[in-house]
Amino acid sequence: VIASPQARASRTDDGLAITLPRGPDLPASVQTVLYHRDPLGVSRRARDRYGPVFTLTSSLKGPLVFVAEPDAVQPLLRADPVSARAGAARRRILPQASSRSPFGADGDRHRAIREAVEPAFAPEVIAAARDEIARIAAAHVAGWPIELPFRLLPRLRTLATDVFVGVVLRVEAPRRRSALVAAIRRMLWTPGNPPLSPPAPDEGPLGPVVDRAFRRRTAAVARLLEAELVSRREPGDDLLGRVVAATSSVADAVDALLVVIAAAQEPPSIALTNVLYELARRPDWRERYLTDVQEREAIVAEALRLRPAVQAVLRELTAPVDVGGHRLQEGTLVALPAPLLQRDRAAFPAPDDFRPGRFAAGVPAGAPYFPFGGGVRRCVGEPLARMELTEILPSVLSRLRLRPAWPTPERMVVRATVLVPHRSGLMIAARR
Ligand code: HEM
Repeated sequence: VIASPQARASRTDDGLAITLPRGPDLPASVQTVLYHRDPLGVSRRARDRYGPVFTLTSSLKGPLVFVAEPDAVQPLLRADPVSARAGAARRRILPQASSRSPFGADGDRHRAIREAVEPAFAPEVIAAARDEIARIAAAHVAGWPIELPFRLLPRLRTLATDVFVGVVLRVEAPRRRSALVAAIRRMLWTPGNPPLSPPAPDEGPLGPVVDRAFRRRTAAVARLLEAELVSRREPGDDLLGRVVAATSSVADAVDALLVVIAAAQEPPSIALTNVLYELARRPDWRERYLTDVQEREAIVAEALRLRPAVQAVLRELTAPVDVGGHRLQEGTLVALPAPLLQRDRAAFPAPDDFRPGRFAAGVPAGAPYFPFGGGVRRCVGEPLARMELTEILPSVLSRLRLRPAWPTPERMVVRATVLVPHRSGLMIAARR
């Protein structure tokens, strides 16, 4: 609990407060549950009450400073590696992320592993997989239920995993491929909407339980990846080959890869769910998406603005940073809250309305819009994610007419570290 943060405030010579910015005085457990149930509502109310820089406290993770100041977005995104670290910040929220992976590493280690994996996601490499992605999508969509309620998110997760295993990991043998898809799905399985970020092994009573389950599930993925690596005579120039060449053992390669695999499943399947969900609610835009190819990019940008897949971009400060009248100290865990910033009134008038026209000429200059983060930690999988959106959305929309199964809009909720619609996009589909 941050009991009255102001009580610990002191000031620098130039009048900056050097304590945690103010935030709700509720017990951390209550803040955690409220925030996970309604991240947009809670952070909006906190900003209205305490200003654009405020502190929310999680029962497991401690204080997190939210910076909803549009001018601070680019400097903070780019603060890694000079005055902030992204890997350490992410590991505080997701302790399962290895410090050897591109997601969890920092400094030189991050640079080296990122350089190794990035070419596997180069736009020209991904472009070569366009038809294969469309083919996989068509095969999945053909099996979706018709005129029966179903949740979009789990369907799109399986589809995204199938794409990743086939196109990026290039596992061709059908048995090995379906075993790996199933093992990845089990590793990332999240029942319901748990109101907590995953605990570290030593965090609370749940820590050891989650740790054991996660180890068991990751071991299955690791075994299949190792078998795949061993079966290849040459390491190859794809993701697996590149990571093996950059690490000292197959076990290290698998360790570096597991969180990349996780990062490659959840955000894209959520982004696909969110765009389809927003279009299902608006039949006129759904039809426009199909008929006006020029408008597609703006429609997707607007859906990702209203419903970002990732709740916040995180940085842990390695030097003091001044923002919004506060001096944030070294070690502070800073979050750039995407749902709040991407609804900034000045940059996006009528911020809750769905208006793809605002992106007609690209992202408005200076707008706090960062679905893929920024700086040297910008999403390495963006070309793949964009190709999935480009190929999978038309594949679904041209075959099915989707409508929400529930009349009221689904709220965004936090699941682990991502944002999902609270019923996982409950839909009914009709054939076109
Ligand atoms: C629509 C889908 C996706 C969204 C919205 C998304 C979003 C993000 C965001 C916001 C970050 C943090 C950036 C930052 O801290 O500045 C990130 C990082 C990352 N993403 Fe994605 N992502 C998506 C798809 C993917 C895919 C398909 C992969 C496949 C490998 C991937 C792999 C990663 C990795 C490895 C990082 C860490 C990069 C680093 O720190 O160097 N993501 N992503």
